[in-house]
Order: sequence, then structure tokens, then C-alpha cells
Amino acid sequence: MCAAWTGARTPQRASTSSAQADVPSLYKSLQEYFPIGAAIVQEDITGPHSELLLKHFNSIVMENAMKMGPLQPKEGQFDFATADALVGFARVHHMLVRGHTLVWYKQNPDWLFKDASGKDLQPGPESKAIVLGRLQAHIRAVVSRYKDDVYAWDVVNEVIDPTQADGFRRTKWYELTGTDYIDTAFRTAHAIAPHAKLNINDYNTTDPVKRRFLLNLVSALKARGVPIDGVGHQMHSNIDAPSLASIVETINMFASLGVDNQITELDVSVYDSPRESCSSIPEDVLAEQGYRYRDLFDTFRSLQGRISAVTFWGMADDHTWLTKLPRKRLDLPLLFDTNLQPKPAFWGIIDPRRLPRRPAAEELRDFQGCSASQ
Ligand code: GLA
Repeated sequence: MCAAWTGARTPQRASTSSAQADVPSLYKSLQEYFPIGAAIVQEDITGPHSELLLKHFNSIVMENAMKMGPLQPKEGQFDFATADALVGFARVHHMLVRGHTLVWYKQNPDWLFKDASGKDLQPGPESKAIVLGRLQAHIRAVVSRYKDDVYAWDVVNEVIDPTQADGFRRTKWYELTGTDYIDTAFRTAHAIAPHAKLNINDYNTTDPVKRRFLLNLVSALKARGVPIDGVGHQMHSNIDAPSLASIVETINMFASLGVDNQITELDVSVYDSPRESCSSIPEDVLAEQGYRYRDLFDTFRSLQGRISAVTFWGMADDHTWLTKLPRKRLDLPLLFDTNLQPKPAFWGIIDPRRLPRRPAAEELRDFQGCSASQ
């Protein structure tokens, strides 16, 4: 039985050494299928985290350092320090780099949608030209700096909103440019880095309504000659959802359109509802999570050739966005625990014979009972 989550505790960054001499390497075990990536922050390239990173991952993406706000805090003034350090680490260690993300509606700099006097730009041809010009300048600067290192870009992130009649998320980008920002972003990135894989990235891509809008957009982009190579499926998931069948169906639908698929932000929350919260996670739940990871990777492997990369949104449970605001609850969604040691989730992928006994449904029910909040 677990008690309700009461505090703001986020697991501390682990400092335990991750020698793991007898533990197989995740990426080496999967190298005939796809590279295995992790979203990282600056602290991950030193100490025990860098050991964990180098042992198990052969690809990185930056959790925040390549977003527009951090990279271009003032117009025309770029701060490449963190991104350079992480890209440099990857280069020295022969790791792949995914670039995330050139265009999003969050984590943007304050000036982006304002005029010279600091007032919000209003829709109209002038504003549109200003914003598309800023978009092009940003993409040119960033993509040309990293064109020898970044092999795949999330060019646009989260542009679909299935609650809109036309499926397009209402953002400042949309308000000021319609959907032209999407075309412009892909064309500009391609002109600078013609060999990079250019992706559209989004969450809940297995949802049939959202997926239909995304499929239509990808088809339309291809039809008008916009250089798009693939779809990034964030795959922030949980112990129950999305279903394996919906993942297979989704990947196959995009593959049939002739585009690549990448899993870009994988994690498996131990909760299946946003209302749940616990101060400790029972072993049975972590065992069940191990079976879920086993099944997810069996599914990804079965789609060999249609999924070209799998990236986790983090490395170990000491650092995950799922414990931060607005949720602010304990969650343990990754393969390694807060001491950087392998969890059942890891063994589910690498060697399911090492999984603990699978808990019965009633054993898991206690957890659900403890955690529902009003
Ligand atoms: C989205 C974004 C990521 C990250 C996560 C969670 O999935 O694509 O960059 O910000 O949200 O924080």
C-alpha cells in the first residue's frame, strides 16, 4: 500500500558510481535494430552520469539546450555554450546527435513575437514577414553551426491539436503565419543541411484523430515538395497506454506514406492517470513496468526498418521531467534507478528472464487505491 505524495521532493541527482561491470550495454544489445539515445543536460557529461551515458547510449539529444529560448535569448545574440559542450562530448565519443527542436510554441525567447518597441506583433503581412525572417535567421544560424554533428532534427514540435477543426495548434506561430512557418522551417533547414533527417515531432501520435491530422499534414507537405523525412513519436507513455497494437498501426501508417519513424522521447510513467500521486512506488509496480518495457521493445524490434532510432527522455530516475511542475509527484519512468542501477525496466528489454515474477492484477490494485487524489 502506498501513501499519498505529500511533499515537493524530487530525487536528488545520484552520485553513486555506476561501475556495472556485469551489466550488458543497452545500445550494444540493440545495435542491429536502432541507435539508443538519451535526453541529457550539462551535468550528464561528467562523473557517474557520463559513465552511464557512455555505457548504454550511442546517441544524445539535449533536454533544453537546443531550444530557441536558451539558444537565442536576445535577437541575433546566440548562446551556444551548453549545446557546444554537449555536441563536443558526443563528437569525442562518436555518438549520434539529434537536434531538438528548431520550432516550438514553448521555451521561446521573449522578443520573438514582439515589435521593436516591445509590443506584441499583431496578425498582418508585415508581422508575418518579420516572424518568418526571424525563424529563417534562427534556423540558418543553428543548423549551420551543427550541420556536421546533428544527423536528425525535430524541425517542428507539437504543431497538431486534434481539438481544432483543422487540426492545427493555435500558437503565436500559427496566429502570425498560418501554417507557412512549418514549410519555411523545413525548407530552411534542408537548404543548410541537405543530408540531415528532418522530422515533425509530436506526442499522442497513436491517437486516431491526432494521427489522421498528422498523416494529412505529412502528405500535404510531401505533395508540395517540402523536404520532410520522418515523424518523431515522443512516446511519453505509461504502464497501460498506448496499446502495442496502436503503436504498430501508427508506425505502419507513416511508413506507408514513405516517411521514417523515430521514437524520440520515450518514458513509461508508473501512473495511468494525472490524478495519482504516491510517496513511494511498490516493487510490484516496478516489476510490471519491466514487463511493459519488454513488450514495447519487442514491438519496436518487430518494426525493424520502419523505426530508425529510439531515444529515452532521460537516463535515470534521479532526473526526469515527470517529477517537475505541474505534476510535482514522484515518478520512476526510466531504465535506471536513482542510484543509476538497472531496474526491472532495463532487464525487460535486455533479458526478460531476469524480470521478477509478474504481479497479479489485485497486487497492483493496492497501488492504484493509494494514489488517487481528488
Ligand atoms: C515535450 C518536449 C520536450 C520536453 C518535454 C517535457 O515533450 O518536446 O522538449 O520539454 O515536453 O518536458
